[in-house]
Amino acid sequence: MKISLYEFQKLGDSRGSLVVLEQEKNIPFEIKRVYYMFETKKDIRRGYHAHKKLNQIAVVLKGECKIHLDDGKSTSEVVMNDPTKGLLLEPLVWHEMFEYSSDCILMILADDVYDENDYIRNKDEFYEIVNK
Ligand code: TYD
Repeated sequence: MKISLYEFQKLGDSRGSLVVLEQEKNIPFEIKRVYYMFETKKDIRRGYHAHKKLNQIAVVLKGECKIHLDDGKSTSEVVMNDPTKGLLLEPLVWHEMFEYSSDCILMILADDVYDENDYIRNKDEFYEIVNK
């Protein structure tokens, strides 16, 4: 499946690096929520859902993890270990995050507030929705 990886400009100087994420500029939506995962235990797999309407962008700020994507037709796996790259998680794409390094900080920007009704947490239901 098609991967949409955003490349963020690194504003580096002799003091170090800086990346700016701005809604409607290098982030293609209004940022209504930010959350991040850290101290993820070894061999943990998270996610296991798709969203009905929510758009998100995942950025690994530190360390590494992998993201498995499934749009119902094909799958992809993306290694995330670069804080200048953001992976678009579109609606109706099943995603699972795994192989987190112990220092991994995975940040997600979302275009809406938390709403459990927007989640599809059952994979069979997900396949029914995307294949109809
Ligand atoms: P969960 O959906 O299980 O995380 P993941 O999909 O990454 O495995 O979320 C863990 C808990 O946090 C769950 O009780 C719901 C809650 N939560 C919120 O309250 N707000 C949020 O924005 C998110 C992402 C989760």
